[in-house]
Amino acid sequence: MENLEQVHLQVNEVFYPTEELKKECIVQDYESMYKKSIENPDEFWSEVASELFWYQKWDKVLEWNFPYAKWFVNGKTNITYNCLDRHVENGRRNKLAFISVDEEGNEKKITYGELLERVNRLANGLKSLGLSKGDRVSIYMPNTVEAVISMLACARIGVIHSVVFAGFSEGALKIRVNDAKAKAVITATYTKRRGKKIPLLPTVLEATKDLDFVKHIIVWDRDKEIEESQQNGKIVDFENLIKSSSPVCNPEIMDAEDPLFILYTSGTTGKPKGVLHTVGGYMVNTYLTTKTVFNIKEDTVYWCTADVGWITGHSYIVYGPLANGTTSVIMEGVPVYPHPGIWWEYVEKYRVNVFYTAPTAIRMLMRFGDEIPAKYDLSSLKIIGSVGEPINPEAWLWYYKHVGKEKAKVVDTWWQTETGAHMITTLPCYPAKPGKAGKPMFGVVADVVDKQGNSLPPNTIGYLVIRKPWPSMLRTCWGEPERYEKYWKDIPGNVYNADDLAAIDEDGYIMIVGRADDVLNVAGHRIGNAEVESAIIEHPAVAEAAVIGKPNEIKGESIKAFVVLKEGYTPSPELVDEIKETVKEVLGAIAVPDEIEFVDKLPKTRSGKIMRRVLRAKELGQELGDISTLED
Ligand code: PRX
Repeated sequence: MENLEQVHLQVNEVFYPTEELKKECIVQDYESMYKKSIENPDEFWSEVASELFWYQKWDKVLEWNFPYAKWFVNGKTNITYNCLDRHVENGRRNKLAFISVDEEGNEKKITYGELLERVNRLANGLKSLGLSKGDRVSIYMPNTVEAVISMLACARIGVIHSVVFAGFSEGALKIRVNDAKAKAVITATYTKRRGKKIPLLPTVLEATKDLDFVKHIIVWDRDKEIEESQQNGKIVDFENLIKSSSPVCNPEIMDAEDPLFILYTSGTTGKPKGVLHTVGGYMVNTYLTTKTVFNIKEDTVYWCTADVGWITGHSYIVYGPLANGTTSVIMEGVPVYPHPGIWWEYVEKYRVNVFYTAPTAIRMLMRFGDEIPAKYDLSSLKIIGSVGEPINPEAWLWYYKHVGKEKAKVVDTWWQTETGAHMITTLPCYPAKPGKAGKPMFGVVADVVDKQGNSLPPNTIGYLVIRKPWPSMLRTCWGEPERYEKYWKDIPGNVYNADDLAAIDEDGYIMIVGRADDVLNVAGHRIGNAEVESAIIEHPAVAEAAVIGKPNEIKGESIKAFVVLKEGYTPSPELVDEIKETVKEVLGAIAVPDEIEFVDKLPKTRSGKIMRRVLRAKELGQELGDISTLED
């Protein structure tokens, strides 16, 4: 690209892969492969699934009983066999699976052979504690290889894992452990962030103290702080459990539709939804998308900067890369500590070829100036990905120019906890447009419609829907099937409503505008407005609260709360701090409002529902829109 400043204003500018990259692309012709996936899905998915190991082949690729889908019906497999044993048996025993690094440059390397052994040992350890297929285990761990081992050990024996992001506080953890009725929690004594140790074990102990069904807390004791006397059957030492268990553990033979994991995500009510993914379809689609979107070759070094606590970590740190036998970097820490070039230092050090991060991080690093990435040799990068929020063209172009050096291909990837895998992107071989997520992935029929389900003309904003089931779709919401059915019954036409606003341009590129529902996206973290409101109300002085998202240059959105105090309380800066502290305790630091404004009353409909839309429009100086339902 010759003149980036001009391109800046032309969102419709097209960026092609370099000839060198094009030659290396696993998928050379997106259009024809996409066509096949839609016109002949059975053959398409059978071929992909056949690249993996199955104890028993499926009878049927898809059974669609609206809105419930079964993929690879009666197929039997184990995802850990495909992620580990398959590689060990095929000459990758000594290939590195992970390079686990922290902020201080400490590194721990683990090969496929070693990973398999540790997973087997922990799996046997879990069995010895009485855990078996179908039980749930919550995982509240730092973003290290020990978290990966914990997840895989569960999957090995058919235990359903439920990872909770270790930045969530005890209240949020308790809700999730309780909802899943987890029999055990795997945690660590602490996680490291900005050079500080953030304790995790005390949070777990507090969160589970009234939950009698939690029989074991398995602790990765990082500095050997826990005395033997404390290990009383309830508290179990992670390393001892691994050491004392056998390294051989036959994988549980899993039906394709057996649950693999529950991952809680925010919805429009205060209670998070337990998105359930099953073994077969999730395995096949994370395998395929990782391979084709990141163009994974035998010698690819890959790095996804997400945390295992989110879906990106599940699909693109753990299952997708391992199913492909990839070598990955995994990092515990933040992108700016000990210096804002730390990520680029590691890209240079490990010769990373594929780098996958979020727009928030790109915008933050952009602020530190072009000279930071310029100090490092980033020439190993071939593909640089983006996920989690809309990437604005400025950030896209900066990423392309200063990180990718106008050579690496930017792939924006739109998807959700619910979709399990990438849904919209531009494959490496295919031209990309800054700020537009791109084209549907294989098997995905995406459309933009109005509330009645009518397709909209090009460049018109509407609801993003998916018209057909896909292998890695969520199967239900744990214990709440009605919440699952809502995705498919919201908009007429038997379509999946992603609850995102989007538009399709004249070339078929889909641009994601943002959430359509009352869900915030703060620095790529999905938080429900109602969750924050419920947390605020826990402060004794608060009568009512309403939360809105405001556009924010770095985080995408920031949180503003309008608070009505109870009789007898007066607004003060101290009260603002106290309310923020309450939210931190109940939910975690990521959900703390940036602004709190005290008001006398909140705008409500006559039926008493808070009209956040009115507050937001007022705050942003926009038209109020239809306020005929406003109470007064
Ligand atoms: O609004 C979309 C946004 O993130 C939401 C899904 O959040 P979560 O389930 O936490 O998963 C995030 C990681 C996959 C979507 O409804 N989102 C995700 N990726 C993009 C995006 N918005 C725009 N562009 C993206 N590439």
